[in-house]
Amino acid sequence: MYCTRKISEDLYWVGGNDRRLTLFENIFPIPRGVSYNSFVLLDEKTVLFDTVDAAVSRQFLENIAYVLNGRTLDYLVINHMEPDHCSVIEDIVMRYPQVKLIGNAKTFQMVQQFYEFKMEERVIQIKEGEELSVGKHTLQFFMAPMVHWPEVMVTYDQCSKVLFSADGFGSFGALNGILFNDEVNFDRDWIDDARRYYTNIVGKYGSQMQGLLKKMAALDIQIICPLHGPVWRSNLDYLLGKHQKWSTYESEEKGVLIAYASMYGNTQNMAEVLAGELAEAGITNTSMYDVSGTHYSYVIADAFKYTNIVLATPTYNGDIYPVMQQLLDDMKALNVQNKTVAIMENGSWGPTAAKKIKESLENMKNMTILENTVTIKSSMKIGDRASVKALAAKIVETL
Ligand code: FEO
Repeated sequence: MYCTRKISEDLYWVGGNDRRLTLFENIFPIPRGVSYNSFVLLDEKTVLFDTVDAAVSRQFLENIAYVLNGRTLDYLVINHMEPDHCSVIEDIVMRYPQVKLIGNAKTFQMVQQFYEFKMEERVIQIKEGEELSVGKHTLQFFMAPMVHWPEVMVTYDQCSKVLFSADGFGSFGALNGILFNDEVNFDRDWIDDARRYYTNIVGKYGSQMQGLLKKMAALDIQIICPLHGPVWRSNLDYLLGKHQKWSTYESEEKGVLIAYASMYGNTQNMAEVLAGELAEAGITNTSMYDVSGTHYSYVIADAFKYTNIVLATPTYNGDIYPVMQQLLDDMKALNVQNKTVAIMENGSWGPTAAKKIKESLENMKNMTILENTVTIKSSMKIGDRASVKALAAKIVETL
């Protein structure tokens, strides 16, 4: 049965929700599911903006048929070719054989990489800023490379002032019947998933996101239709403000992320003592994760969010504990920067983790490493308390 939502007089959401998928991209946990958004515009010509993941293709095809109500599909705009959006292109071509595909040169390279169907006669290849009239509506295309793949573009409907923003401004989380940002308490229920989505999926490409934000500033945008999560029709400044911070690697809040690794609980104990000292000093805007038990995407999201990071780890094979090393690798890959970092290490015979962590952090941009590194041997003793207290005081100073 069709399951669509109306966005405006002639624009419809025709996507689907997936609550079965455990890992998005087979990497990221999505306990609240994910939506694959797609949109149909009914004008003199009919236009579909992107397709969906194969997992929701049946729902999607029913939705399109319902909205088209017997009309044919004239255009498919392909803003992004990652398979969570391009998986149903061939089905669309088979169902609507006259459909024309709209994309840029890189789009069609990728179409040919993913598909073998003959597309030459149906290709409309556009360039930056080009326009296409489909009746009352004129669509304008802007490149947004690396937000999140090189072929990504966004499409602006000049008539309705709608931006189809591809992966930009999306979020993890299935839609549960809602569609619009004003149907939810976004800042309470969605922002953590939106941050985790942006920082882990697009986080590396801050300067490219900045490029898109600059292009958008020249447009009068009333509605943003991303490929995942709610459609935005109000409070756009909130959404743009968050993306401005994330894409310039500016922390959102003064606060402390404490990420620890612990084999038998002793390093955890040291991290807990520090957290307690911080709370005693009034610093309660903190989050704390065991990196062995928490997927790194949650830790990365908070690394973007907070001004301060504490890394506490055992030494392992004369190096950083492997799971902590993975976090550091991901911080580097996703361009985490502009943070104040404190280090705590544990080592029963040769603690070397702090030195190695410093070396990792020195390869990231603008990381201020606090001098008061805490080193314990095997477990924290009463004599170590002073150095943890001193580190907490130092962190408080920087906040
Ligand atoms: Fe939602 Fe880059 O795909």
